[in-house]
Order: sequence, then C-alpha cells, then structure tokens
Amino acid sequence: MSALDFTQTSTTRRTGDAERAQILADPGFGSHFTDFMAHARWTAEGGWETSEVLPYGPLQLSPAAAVLHYGQEIFEGLKAFRHADGSIWTFRPEVNAERLQRSARRLALPELPTEEFLASLRAVVAADEPWVPEATSEESLYLRPFMFASEEFLGVRASHTVDYYVIASPAGPYFPRGVQPLVVWITDEYARAGAGGTGAAKCGGNYASSLLGKREAAEHGADEVLFLDSETHTSIDELSGMNVFAVTRDGRLLTPALTGSILEGVTRASILRLAEDRGLGVSEQPLVMSEVLEQLASGEITEMFACGTAAVINPIGEFKAHGGTWTVGDGGSGETTLALRKELTDIQYGRIADRHGWLTRL
Ligand code: COI
Repeated sequence: MSALDFTQTSTTRRTGDAERAQILADPGFGSHFTDFMAHARWTAEGGWETSEVLPYGPLQLSPAAAVLHYGQEIFEGLKAFRHADGSIWTFRPEVNAERLQRSARRLALPELPTEEFLASLRAVVAADEPWVPEATSEESLYLRPFMFASEEFLGVRASHTVDYYVIASPAGPYFPRGVQPLVVWITDEYARAGAGGTGAAKCGGNYASSLLGKREAAEHGADEVLFLDSETHTSIDELSGMNVFAVTRDGRLLTPALTGSILEGVTRASILRLAEDRGLGVSEQPLVMSEVLEQLASGEITEMFACGTAAVINPIGEFKAHGGTWTVGDGGSGETTLALRKELTDIQYGRIADRHGWLTRL
C-alpha cells in the first residue's frame, strides 16, 4: 500500500488532440512534455507528506534553493510501453526504484519507498494515457523521476526540504540518426567519475561532468564520448550516459565490471541475463582500452554496442582518438547486437513472452 496518493488536482490539458498527434508522429527524444506531472515533498520534520498530480509547468524555486548551488539532485529514467491490446507496461521499475534509493543514500537525499515510486509512475501515466504512443511503433513514453534539494539555505549540508517529481516525454530514438552505428571519441583528457565519488549514483553532476568530453567528441565528428577510469586511464568506464559491451568472435559478451564509478544500468543487467539465456559466455571484467583496440584490429572483438534505457541498444561502428581510428567489425550493426536489441524490445512491447517477469502493468 502506498501512503502517498498522488491525487490529480486538475484535468485540464495544455495540449490539444491535433498538437499531441503531431508530436507523437515524430517525438524525437527529450523535447516534448506531457500535460501532467507527479509531485511529492519531503521535509526533515515530517518525511514524505505531500503528493499530487498537477499540470506540467515551470517550478517555483527560491534562487537560494540548495540544488542550484550544490547540485544535490538525483534522477531515474524508464519507459512506458503500449502493447497491442492497448495495455501499458513498464520494465523492471522496482530496479529503478532501488537504484533511486541507492542514489539518494549517496547524495544524502531521502529514500522514496518502492511502493511510492511505483504509485508516482502509475499516477502520471494514468493522467497522461493519451501520450503513450501506439503499439505499432518503437516509441514509448519516457518517464523521468527526479529529486532535488529545495531548501532555501546556502550552508553546505543535506537539505531539510526535498521535492520529487515525475515528468513524462514521448520518445523515439535517442540518437537523432536513429539506431545507426555510433562514432565514439575516446577522451584522454577528461574522466567522468573517480574512486569514492558519485559515479555509481544517477545524479546530475555525473552528466554535467561528461559534457565537455561530449563537446570534444562532437568537435572530432563523433556521436559520443568514452570515458576511461580516472585512476589509471586505461580501462573503459562508460559513455556520457550509457554502458558499453563488446562481443567476441568466439561468442562471449564482455562489459566493464561495476567498480563504483559506473552506473548500474537496468538495460546492462537485462542484457547480461538475455545473453546468458542464449548460451553466450558473459564476463564482467576490466576492459583495457589498448587491448580492446588491438582485438578490434585483429578481429577478435567483432561487435561493440552502447546501452541504456533511453538508447536501448545502439551499435558502435567506430572509435576515434588522438592516435587514430578503429573500425568495429565491418563498421555496421553486428548480428548479436541487433538480436539482443530485438529480443529486449520484443519483451518490452509484449511481442514475446516475458519469461523473467520483468514487466509491470501501469
Ligand atoms: C537513460 O538512459 O534513461 C538515461 O538516463 C541516460 C540519459 C543519457 C538519457
């Protein structure tokens, strides 16, 4: 039972049917937002005490709100999928709830119980049901829960007032070019996260620290930036917001081990499970960049891909660095990469059996 009821305060939509249909025809990623949002407030005195679903719109925030100065903020990302019978489902939301709780602990924010997290998702999707794209597409409603320090106070300590919201955004492919092989720039200048830092938490600061690397990548004609570990600068950590996998010629799937500086991706964990089901050997291990580049050149690694909730699974076609350019396989979309992508999305859209019980009806 959820203690927060997320009662809807208004049913007036800001978007007309024609405008919504136009947006859903080509939503892109992260540019359009629905009619409603969920909100809950926590105070040090009363805990989680207020909740509502209100019209989507600007927030009122003190210029002295702690988040604006010290970045005490965390977020999640998950998707609502419409199935052929019209029903709406989400994928492993309890795993996102638990990760939000871990992120909250790391950023000294209050933990939102799993039941309340699920209630907030249900409330937004119920209010914004017309925004969940039709089952015929590969589109979904991206849900973005987030929590931040809203206390008006400039002393450096954990905020005594915290606001939690869930906003929703209809989503097509994350990358503007669609599911096409990515060009990835290996930065030797910047690191995303360090030992003892916040790399495993889903907090805005990690993404802020990736932006200069991403700009450097764009300057070199790349779609994404790859960060190496901050200590030795030799092993693959992750991209700006996605985990990385390699497929070997002898049918193994490799991904960097969770060292504390890598996000514990829900898609990452699901791929490891699907790969095991297929009889692929899976290994979570340090992936030394120089060895990976050698294995790409020798053909020992045949495919690489990026994964995350937003991007799902996206092939990597090429790496670039100051020292040169390395093509992955034939530079196209690898067979194993596409097979895993298909299986994962087939489960999410209800096209094949959900044998692991990963779907939750909203
Ligand atoms: C997600 O995949 O949901 C994320 O939060 C990452 C971000 C790059 C959109």
